[in-house]
Amino acid sequence: MANTELIEKINKLKKEKNAIILAHCYQNPEIDFVADYVGDSLGLSRLASKTDAEIIVFAGVYFMAETAKILSPNKTVLLPNKNSGCNMADMINLKQVKEFKEKHPGTPLVCYVNSTAEVKAQCDICCTSANAINVIKSLYMQGAKKVLFAPDCYLGSYAQKNLPDIEIISYPGYCPTHLRIIPDEIVKMKIMYKDAKILVHPECHQEVVKLADFVGSTTQIMQYCESTKHKTYIIATEKGVVDRLKRDFPEKEFILASSKLVCHNMKWNTLDDILNSLLHNQHEVTVEEEIRQKALSSIQKMIELK
Ligand code: 13P
Ligand code: SF4
Repeated sequence: MANTELIEKINKLKKEKNAIILAHCYQNPEIDFVADYVGDSLGLSRLASKTDAEIIVFAGVYFMAETAKILSPNKTVLLPNKNSGCNMADMINLKQVKEFKEKHPGTPLVCYVNSTAEVKAQCDICCTSANAINVIKSLYMQGAKKVLFAPDCYLGSYAQKNLPDIEIISYPGYCPTHLRIIPDEIVKMKIMYKDAKILVHPECHQEVVKLADFVGSTTQIMQYCESTKHKTYIIATEKGVVDRLKRDFPEKEFILASSKLVCHNMKWNTLDDILNSLLHNQHEVTVEEEIRQKALSSIQKMIELK
């Protein structure tokens, strides 16, 4: 089926079934033709908690769809292609999170949303790349002298640099996609594009983060490009962000910091999969109620923070 036909069918079915399609900005850009909202993990979680739709089709990876289900247990949440996992989320399981906590008794655990529901259920509060610093700061304001952070040790290091008064003990997880970018590539690009601004996702290595003019989540990076007047931007996050920036701001120049910055997990969902998910309610995401309740409390604490 041609894309235009698929898009028409999906948009029609969406209305008939009272469904909403949420898409992460690392998805293939044609998904935006059917998406009701495209954004970062924080924005998508906020929307999932507020929507009146009966069905949420989540064009993203598994932990994002699971987060939507935790927030909206009475809605049907669908992940169009069930191969959409996340290497980072897979780096910590229930046993590992328990061992991590046991090594540091009494220390609150902050959990990056890039984790499974059973890991979230073990933590005190969640965060995303957009609000990790604020979340940890909120614990500091409540008197915490140290916190545990899982699973991304690079986001943990970034937060530590910004919050020197609290000790952050990070679990050794990471994002293989963001670690593919090495500082040398950026340094070379900066020589070629002298006036370019360097924008970096905090999942990158600290040596890459050090070179940044701006560090932020995917949506924060896109907003920075929209609200500033520079001509050229070097982008150190996944390719989907650059695809969208090029489309939305053709008068500006966007350069992906490395051609290796592609998250294959994020590229599984196709328009065909989305149509099939709406037609056959596939693939439904479920979370066991006891785990959901516990995970919900840590996600809600994050959402309620300004
Ligand atoms: P955002 O928090 O920027 O959406 O990033 C999610 C993610 O998976 C980055 O790799
Ligand atoms: Fe997971 Fe990294 Fe892909 Fe984000 S970019 S979904 S952290 S593997």
